[in-house]
Amino acid sequence: MAFKVGLLGLGTVGSGTAEILLNPAQRHPLLQELEIHRVGVRSLAKPRAVELPAETLTTDVESIVADPEIDIVVEVMGGLEPARSLMLKAIANGKHVVTANKAAIARFGDEIFTAANEAGVYVLLEAAVAGGIPVIEPLKQSLCANRIHSITGIVNGTTNYILSRMQTEGSNFETVLADAQQLGYAEADPTADVDGLDAADKIAILASLAFGGRIKLAEVYCEGIRPVSATDIAYAEKLGFVIKLLATAKREISAGGESGPADQLQVRVHPTLVPKVHPLASVNGVYNAILIEGDPVGQVMFFGPGAGAGPTASAVVSDILNIAAILKVGRGGILQANGKPLLDPLLAYSHQHYCAIAPIEELVTRFYARVLTQDNPGVIGKLGTCFGNHNVSLESVVQIGLQDDRAEIVVITHYVQERNFRQALEEIGSFESLTVPSVLRVL
Ligand code: NAP
Ligand code: HSE
Repeated sequence: MAFKVGLLGLGTVGSGTAEILLNPAQRHPLLQELEIHRVGVRSLAKPRAVELPAETLTTDVESIVADPEIDIVVEVMGGLEPARSLMLKAIANGKHVVTANKAAIARFGDEIFTAANEAGVYVLLEAAVAGGIPVIEPLKQSLCANRIHSITGIVNGTTNYILSRMQTEGSNFETVLADAQQLGYAEADPTADVDGLDAADKIAILASLAFGGRIKLAEVYCEGIRPVSATDIAYAEKLGFVIKLLATAKREISAGGESGPADQLQVRVHPTLVPKVHPLASVNGVYNAILIEGDPVGQVMFFGPGAGAGPTASAVVSDILNIAAILKVGRGGILQANGKPLLDPLLAYSHQHYCAIAPIEELVTRFYARVLTQDNPGVIGKLGTCFGNHNVSLESVVQIGLQDDRAEIVVITHYVQERNFRQALEEIGSFESLTVPSVLRVL
């Protein structure tokens, strides 16, 4: 019995996926039962990285999601539309869906999973977060006995590549970005990567799985790496840190110290000073890593390639195989009240409610701030007093150099509330001839 796959897209990920499906030798035997039935593309004239019979390709993508012979639709076309509508139509037609599209899932996951649950079909998305690194299914299945406390990840390869090169070369952001674009590591329009939006989509998906509720993307706090300067990277280095774009999802512990269902989550993306001894500090270049802390497992870290044809296709095909395995053993026997097959609760997404997300002002963290001011006696004392007036305790204050005749002072705080820190900064910003060129959070 062959399971028929309809591919929507034959670009980087689609070609990698077809490559695996066409070369099953020495891989899982179930692969031999998968067949690429149709492939939807924008242009039939484009040269392709994989050889497929010409009649398999079509620009009529609607015909793929409506094709009664297709069991599994693999959406690897990207973008929001028509990807969203095609996934919904495939679901309505009783097809299982595999997607790598974090942007569509982070925005329309609610609609897509509700439709899938009603239709009794699976929507799997291992490739949507961290490409080739298995993290979605481990969270859903292997770690499901745990109470998850936090997920902290480097989930965007482009920004990690840029920051790693800034670190090793001492170059500034614009220079490295331009070079990364030329080398093909960064997109011509780098906005989604460098402004943290891609990482926000990914952490929203991970948070939803880890904390068992849906996440409103608009509530995910997001800062990108454009403001990170070579100067800050050099100061961080001297102080024992590297700067990484971290995506974090964490359960806030309520005042009594006990976590409970009413607790809020922190879900945020921002450049962060990471201590050099931290496991995420040594993740460099285009690599991704995700550190999960749960009870009782403790810390588990996933590391690997977060993008690319082969790694991403590895994740896509594992989802296809998961579905094929279920179809093969006929696990559609038990029916829901609506007459549709009952889904495996470890594989399907069933949560309905939205998680409460804490506003960023309530975050308690450490801060790094770089201040430029006239090198007058008492200036450090004045800064310290102002921070103190707002309940911001300082861990270290260093004055190393001068920039254009102005003293450069770097402050690291103890754990403080973001709201208090911002109030202190506002007051400090009003001091005569003082500027605060950078503020970063510290892990
Ligand atoms: P890509 O190289 O741009 O490929 C997109 C494919 O979809 C192309 O074959 C294109 O057809 C087809 N397509 C796009 N819009 C279409 C439309 N309206 N009608 C018909 N065909 C259409 O993209 P990709 O890099 O493979 O990414 C695909 C998805 O995987 C995205 O959601 C992305 O975020 C996700 N992802 C990618 C990576 C990665 O490393 N690239 C990693 C993780 C996740 P033509 O070839 O004819 O233009
Ligand atoms: N643009 C993404 C990155 C690709 O740089 O990580 C993988 O999702």
